[in-house]
Amino acid sequence: MVRLWILLFIAFIIYTFFVYNDSGNRNPNDSIPDRQSLAGWKTWQEKNCQSCHQIYGLGGYMGPDLTNVASEPAKGDIYLRTFIKFGTGKMPNFNLNDSEVTNLVAFLKWIDKSGKSRVPKEKVTWSGSYNLEN
Ligand code: HEC
Repeated sequence: MVRLWILLFIAFIIYTFFVYNDSGNRNPNDSIPDRQSLAGWKTWQEKNCQSCHQIYGLGGYMGPDLTNVASEPAKGDIYLRTFIKFGTGKMPNFNLNDSEVTNLVAFLKWIDKSGKSRVPKEKVTWSGSYNLEN
């Protein structure tokens, strides 16, 4: 019986080690926002972009989720700048100046590096489910 407890304890220690050492294949430096992204973050909060847009699936649902908008192949810097600067029929024009727009684009690029909003396809089997893509 005691051996079993020792075995379980060792398994726990090994498991804990892996849990706290898994970087999730992310570069730790990516989680530190640079000055531009921080300024963009501030504008994001002041203009309450999140009331209409989600990040990581959280936020309003009037506009699309923007977590990974910066890395979508069809949507580059100019695309983002145009939306942010002029708005659309549904999205308001906030009359932001050029540096505020640049900072918001930097913020969206920083957010993009930190996670994925799209739910990955899963294969479900009797023993559980696993991601088919990453
Ligand atoms: C009143 C709601 C609302 C607010 C507030 C808002 N947006 Fe939007 N946004 C939208 C809608 C709706 C769209 C989709 C465009 C359309 O259908 O006209 C959009 C589109 C976008 C897009 C293009 C997304 C894509 O995938 O094509 C970006 C980028 C964007 N918004 C950024 C922002 C930023 C940055 C802010 C804050 C400064 C903001 N939005 C505030 C409603 C909003």
